[in-house]
Amino acid sequence: MWSFVRSVSLASLVATTVTAELSFKASIQQEGQDVDASALDFVRIPALQHGKHASRLHRNHAKTEERDTISYSSNWCGASQHTTPADSITNAIGYFTVPDLTLRPGIPAPQFAAAWVGIDGAECNTTLLQAGVTTVVNSNGGQSSSAWWEWYPEAAFNIDGLKVKPGDWVSVNITARDETSGIVVITNSEQGTSVTMEINNGPKLCRRDVEWIVEDFYQAGEQVELAHFSDLWFVDSGATTDRGKSIGFDGATMVHLQDSDGSVLCTAEPYDNSNVVIVSHP
Ligand SMILES: *[C@@H]1O[C@H](CO)[C@@H](O)[C@H](O)[C@H]1NC(C)=O
Ligand SMILES: *[C@@H]1O[C@H](CO)[C@@H](O)[C@H](O)[C@H]1NC(C)=O
Repeated sequence: MWSFVRSVSLASLVATTVTAELSFKASIQQEGQDVDASALDFVRIPALQHGKHASRLHRNHAKTEERDTISYSSNWCGASQHTTPADSITNAIGYFTVPDLTLRPGIPAPQFAAAWVGIDGAECNTTLLQAGVTTVVNSNGGQSSSAWWEWYPEAAFNIDGLKVKPGDWVSVNITARDETSGIVVITNSEQGTSVTMEINNGPKLCRRDVEWIVEDFYQAGEQVELAHFSDLWFVDSGATTDRGKSIGFDGATMVHLQDSDGSVLCTAEPYDNSNVVIVSHP
């Protein structure tokens, strides 16, 4: 037997009272085969705070004949989709490059960017099942990246044992089996390594929103400094619903990040139904 599964119960880690005990078990695969998971470790990090997800300014942009709506957020840029009440999102996939950062001049270091895929968290603002990669660039330009998953408002976990570095192609595959259980698979395609989390008793999902995002997130109540990042493509990405409907970027809301000074720091530019590029502005 050379397949190992690690189980982590959050019951002992979560300080606040939770009605159900979120738990997960994780495994690691190399080229699709289970391998020894003893090096796989999860480091609990404070939940990213997503309270500011709601866009502050809506502008319906008639972009030629296109149907994409543009809106502005103070902390993220990317594409956001919603289903009708008849369709529940069951799967969301994003294939993207780990953020590759350079320092934004005149702004203190360290600087950050987090790229992720998530179900809910927009119109359904009570919960969000998400996974992605965060890169930090420090004052000498050195970068480090880490993969993580989070079922907001529960804790977030860094996935130690899945190596990622700026520019690596990764995929995030999130399955909502039902409203409270799911499977998150993060793959580093450069290395053929995947980590799979099977999660139970998560905060109840609506399964109505799906998004592909670069975020200038909050840490300990403060918004981090967003770094400049190389064009970040989400390719061959999309979502599916319980009725088998495919959802791509056509008709998505393209969210641009505008800071409190009015500067637009990054924008989402649609390419086609399964590809979108997130562009950082100086
Ligand atoms: C969440 O959505 C509800 C209903 O649309 C709204 O009343 C509430 O203000 C939202 N909360 C946040 C934090 O955006
Ligand atoms: C995504 O993950 C689910 C659950 O593990 C799996 O059934 C599905 O085949 C995966 N999709 C892709 C495109 O890998």
